[in-house]
Amino acid sequence: MRKILATLIIASFACGADLFVGSMTPVLDKVGGKVIAELHAGAKLKQISQNGEYVEVEYVGFIPGESPIAYARVGVLEQDINVGDMKTFKVIKTHKDPYDNEWDEVSVKGFVKKDTLVADIDVVHKAGQALFEERCGSCHALHAYDEFGANVWPSVIETMISNSALTPQEVETLNRFLQSKAPIE
Ligand code: HEC
Repeated sequence: MRKILATLIIASFACGADLFVGSMTPVLDKVGGKVIAELHAGAKLKQISQNGEYVEVEYVGFIPGESPIAYARVGVLEQDINVGDMKTFKVIKTHKDPYDNEWDEVSVKGFVKKDTLVADIDVVHKAGQALFEERCGSCHALHAYDEFGANVWPSVIETMISNSALTPQEVETLNRFLQSKAPIE
C-alpha cells in the first residue's frame, strides 16, 4: 500500500486547496517543534503555507463532548485526529446531532510532512478497497459494504485484525474506505 500511496502523491500543492492525509502522521507546533496531535488516513486539511518538506495546515472537525479525538462528520465516527491536550482544539461552534447530542466544531493548526499528504481522497479510498478485496475474502465471501453502519464497521474490523494480519495503518485505511461506503445508521 505504501507504494501505491507514494506513486500517487502530488509533489506540490496549491495554496488554500484541500489536502488529505494519506497515512498516519504527526502534527508539529512548528517545523522541528513538538508533536501536538496525530492525524489519521483520510482526514481533510487546508493548506496555509509551505515550508520546505513541511506544509502548514488547518484541520477542522467535530468532537462529541470532551473527546480527544475529532471526527470528520457530526454523528459519524470517522477518526481524523487525536490530541494529547484538549487545549489543542480551538472550538469554533457547537452543533447537535439527530439524537440531540452536542458536537463542538474544532480546529487545529500545525505543520505536517508534505510526503504524508495526498491531493485526492480517492487515493485513500482506493488503497482501502484494495485491502478489503485482497484481505477480507479469502476465508469467507466478501461482506457487503452496507451490512454494517459506518459506526459499526470499525468494531467488525477489530475482530478480523489477527485473521487478516492488518497493521494499524492498514486498519485505519480500511475503516476509512468502509465508512465512506456504509450507511450512517
Ligand atoms: C483467516 C480467515 C479470515 C479472514 C482473512 C477474514 N475473516 Fe472474517 N471471519 C472469519 C471467520 C472464521 C468468521 C466466523 C467466525 C467469527 O465471527 O469469528 C468470520 C466472520 C466475519 C464476519 C461476520 C461477523 C458478524 O458479526 O456477523 C464479518 C463481517 C467478517 N468476518 C469480515 C471480515 C473482514 C472485513 C475481513 C478483512 C479485514 C475478514 N473478515 C477477514 C475468518 C476470516
